[in-house]
Amino acid sequence: MEEYILRFEKVSKSFGDKKVLRNISFSVKKGEVVALMGPSGCGKTTVLRLILRLIEADEGEIHLYGRDITHLSERELIDIRKKVGIVFQGGALFDSMTVFENVAFPLRYCLDIKDEGLMREMVSSMLESVELPDTEDLMPADLSGGMRKRVALARALVYKPSFLLLDEPTTGLDPQTARHIDRLVADLSRRHNLSAMTVTHDVVSALGIADRVFLMKEGDIVWMGTSEEWEASSDPEVTSFLLGTKSIRHRGSAP
Ligand SMILES: Nc1ncnc2c1ncn2[C@@H]1O[C@H](COP(=O)(O)OP(=O)(O)OP(=O)(O)O)[C@@H](O)[C@H]1O
Ligand SMILES: [Mg+2]
Repeated sequence: MEEYILRFEKVSKSFGDKKVLRNISFSVKKGEVVALMGPSGCGKTTVLRLILRLIEADEGEIHLYGRDITHLSERELIDIRKKVGIVFQGGALFDSMTVFENVAFPLRYCLDIKDEGLMREMVSSMLESVELPDTEDLMPADLSGGMRKRVALARALVYKPSFLLLDEPTTGLDPQTARHIDRLVADLSRRHNLSAMTVTHDVVSALGIADRVFLMKEGDIVWMGTSEEWEASSDPEVTSFLLGTKSIRHRGSAP
């Protein structure tokens, strides 16, 4: 039995002349929550897109659920993607659809569920678990930023994936709302034994929910360790990343 959900082995990716990922290797264990941190443009979203094979690696191997995804057929790829939930950067909802239709979307179009009663039940219980009961008929425009993120989280989790990918789930939220999202993710991952990879600039969020932290810089993973090791670390890469995030906060812009 494969004990890893995900394994990158010497993966490289360029866009044109720009080398975006340089020979990176890491793994995510079953049930583990990993935070991927690093400055803007270092390649974090590219890692997430490679996991779902929305883009192809130039070199290296990516194993998801023990299968090398570079050689899967379209059919096999669709089956494996069904086990992965994703909240995209910005948490984009379909603005012209109600909350219900947003959350039901993957049930209708990925799982092909036809039973409307069953769908209502699944959506309503998922909305309850992200603490948004009875919001089915609202439109995304009626929701606050934090509520929108929670609907995106419900949509990513409604078909019960065992691996969750989050791209900046707390960016743009006030600290209190951000901590609420963190608590939900930590709680849901514990309750459903989910593995998760969360991309974030938010150090508090990363340390709050992750078992391990990976720090990226210019397409490389430059530091890897547990949250406790991160807090105790005097590694220059960690220190300089933390100084960078502090200077952003001092300028008063969003992280
Ligand atoms: N489809 C693409 N075509 C060309 N360049 C791309 C493409 N996707 C990403 N890049 C470039 O690759 C680099 C890494 O992008 P990526 O989106 O992975 O960064 P990131 O770490 O997620 O940044 P941020 O924190 O700002 O979201 C950037 O320089 C970006 O411009
Ligand atoms: Mg990104």
